[in-house]
Amino acid sequence: DGSGAVRRDLEGLRVLVTAGGTREEIDPVRYIANHSSGKQGWALAHAALARGAQVTLLAANVEAETPPGAERRDVGSAAELAAAVAELREDADVLVMAAAVADFTPRTRAEAKIKKVEGQDAPPIDLTRTEDILRRSVEVRAARREVAPGAAPRIIVGFAAETGSAQSSSLELARLKARRKGADLLVFNDLTAGVFGAETNSVRILDTEGADVAEVTGEKVRVAHGVLDQVVGLLGDVRL
Ligand code: CTP
Ligand code: CA
Repeated sequence: DGSGAVRRDLEGLRVLVTAGGTREEIDPVRYIANHSSGKQGWALAHAALARGAQVTLLAANVEAETPPGAERRDVGSAAELAAAVAELREDADVLVMAAAVADFTPRTRAEAKIKKVEGQDAPPIDLTRTEDILRRSVEVRAARREVAPGAAPRIIVGFAAETGSAQSSSLELARLKARRKGADLLVFNDLTAGVFGAETNSVRILDTEGADVAEVTGEKVRVAHGVLDQVVGLLGDVRL
């Protein structure tokens, strides 16, 4: 609201935030990574703490200092992140998947550094799919709710970074993704202009059907508060 005052509307709630970008090792010296800086996840942690939440940060390759008051666990690969989320999500009221998770990982990691050989072609890297942690979390929750109504996490938030293509606009892709993922909220970041590592962000928040809920632009912590406003709204709707 611009007054600078923060409501303690997440008091007593446990918020699990994934941040950063996973790394998939090829050999002892190389990995496949992405451009995620971890800043938006960090901002979410800061904002949730300011609103009174108990925050656990699952940090994938982020150098930044841990926000004071947050619990932090570091992970490297998508598989490590998946295992950590699986372990911690049942104890979270809110799961926010802000991390950029590798979709593909080398089928095997070479024990020794891969060497180039005179006169030979470049070796192919055989990739396999990783688990979709967000989708899996939604599925696991749905299955648990069959037997335990209100099973955690009460709210699941995904992020979608899209560039759009010749066939579809980034927004169209985000709406489709929202429906496919089934998260309660999907925060769409239009990458058409390219914003990795930036201090500011501009997002559109979609619901589980891909419909518009809100738009937020500004410092990443402002965007974080905008996302948490929607989380609080949903928590009010579904007092699970
Ligand atoms: N995500 C995840 N596990 C993965 C990949 C993505 O949990 N293996 C989560 C991200 O943390 C994010 C959301 O899913 O919250 C959307 O990620 P994104 O890469 O935009 O979507 P994908 O489903 O991987 O689709 P795409 O083919 O566009 O990359
Ligand atoms: Ca992806």
